[in-house]
This record gives sequence, structure tokens and C-alpha cells, in this order.
Amino acid sequence: VGPLIGPIDHVGVAVTSLEAALPLFRDALGFRHHETETVETEKVRVAILYAGESRVELLEPMSAESPISKFLESRGPGIHHLAYRVADVAGEVERLRAAGLRFIEPAPRPGAQGCRVAFLHPKSAGGILTELVERLPERR
Ligand code: CO
Repeated sequence: VGPLIGPIDHVGVAVTSLEAALPLFRDALGFRHHETETVETEKVRVAILYAGESRVELLEPMSAESPISKFLESRGPGIHHLAYRVADVAGEVERLRAAGLRFIEPAPRPGAQGCRVAFLHPKSAGGILTELVERLPERR
């Protein structure tokens, strides 16, 4: 069996406002702003940034019910999750569940840019909210 977890896909960063955060990340630090999209299932707006091939996603809550709102209330802005690429997210969820690890939701769901994602509970992932991402081949 080869490596099951692939390279880091992105780092998710919670911000209170994309407009307020972009001057730092884009203008001062020099990230390329690829696009901004809305993920309705998570009630977030996501600004997708690149530094070379490395990707950072700024996450702004769209409502008080967003998980990002709850994170900002308790922890303030900062690193929210780490995401790793996997070839088969449903298969990884099954494998890791069988090994006793906990996921936030019962099954993988759609994420940004048409990918499929699942979140490992921080208590099962070394204290880090960990996202597994399966990218559609044409959107790599
Ligand atoms: Co993410």
C-alpha cells in the first residue's frame, strides 16, 4: 500500500472579513488571488489564494450559524484546518472509521470547486481539524 494521505492541498484560515484580510494576504504578502466562491453547505465565502503551488483558503462566515462564526467567537482569526489530498475520500473515511477515528459528518460532501471532502475530528487527528480532499481530475 502506498501513501494514503497525499500532499497538503490547502490551509484553511478563518477571517472575519475577506475584504479586510486581502490587503495583508494579497497586497502585502503577495499571494495570487485566484477566485472567491461561496460554499452554501458551510455558509462561508472562500477566497482561494496561491503562493506558487501552495494554496491558502481564507474563510469568511456568511451567517452566525456558520462553523467559521463559532470558531471566530471562541478562537479569533487564524488557522482553522489543514487539508490533505486523497485519491478516494469515501474509501479513506471507511478505512479510518474502521481504525476508530471520528469524522465530523457521516459522509463526504461537496466542497469548493466541485471536490468531495470529509473532516476528521480534531480529537482523532492530533488536535488539528483535518480535511481530506478528493479533487475532480479536470480541476486539479
Ligand atoms: Co478546506
